Amino acid sequence: MKMLGQIEALRRAVLGLRADGRVAFVPTMGNLHAGHLTLVREAFRHADSVVVSIFVNPLQFEPNEDLDKYPRTLEADCRALEAEGVDLLFVPPVEVMYPVPLEQQTRVEVPGISTLYCGASRPGHFAGVATVVCKLFNMVQPELAIFGKKDYQQLLVMRRMVCDLAMSVEILGVDTVREPDGLAMSSRNRYLDASERRVAPRLYATLRAAAARVTEGECNWGGLGDWIRKELDNVGFRTDYAVVVDAATLLPPADRSEKLVILVAAWLGKARLIDNLEMEIK
Ligand code: PAF
Repeated sequence: MKMLGQIEALRRAVLGLRADGRVAFVPTMGNLHAGHLTLVREAFRHADSVVVSIFVNPLQFEPNEDLDKYPRTLEADCRALEAEGVDLLFVPPVEVMYPVPLEQQTRVEVPGISTLYCGASRPGHFAGVATVVCKLFNMVQPELAIFGKKDYQQLLVMRRMVCDLAMSVEILGVDTVREPDGLAMSSRNRYLDASERRVAPRLYATLRAAAARVTEGECNWGGLGDWIRKELDNVGFRTDYAVVVDAATLLPPADRSEKLVILVAAWLGKARLIDNLEMEIK
């Protein structure tokens, strides 16, 4: 596996890969776990070579968030990616990614969907994600890019961005990888202490219980969101939002909605956990 940090060298290396066929791209912030490695395996199922990036993107963190504390584990990440057969690892320094001061960086805003849910709690977050991913796409120019469905809203923001900006990148969403007790894998799970870790699986358990209520005929979506919030807050979470929405628009379900998604974000101690569950309703 080649590891590069400069844009020109990356472009040359990707040109070489493209000569051999389709190139898939997996953008990450590192601290890789089984969820990320599943994205890499999925990338290989759809392409001939795989490029991974590791970049802890300052533009997507709010001023009071965990940018400095965000776990950085480059050596272990390299070993894991090497073992998966990744062709190219791009690890740009901040000054390569952002040669101008952050306030002067041109930004990609995806309106509407970026202002809901996580975007309401973290106002600059999705512009930071869209900007860095747009830059990475311009550098790597992959045929295909892979994102985890755990960040469901992020996945839809990416789809809107490539559609609105006519980018020729196919976006593929991959199912969330979970611990045996149901907790969605996330780099931020390491912020949980032992007793919080025991409570954390209740997040997914509550999503499943809510989905079971829908199967039994529940269709008061606002009431169901309130029920999820109460269940979680009762066991020690501080729920940020819990909503049942159309899976394609993230807006309240309409008569024509065919698929719903329950989206939840909740604090448990210092960790802000997010999770979701998709449901067919017709
Ligand atoms: O999901 C992530 O890890 C990040 O938001 C991403 C897509 C790598 C952009 O920094």
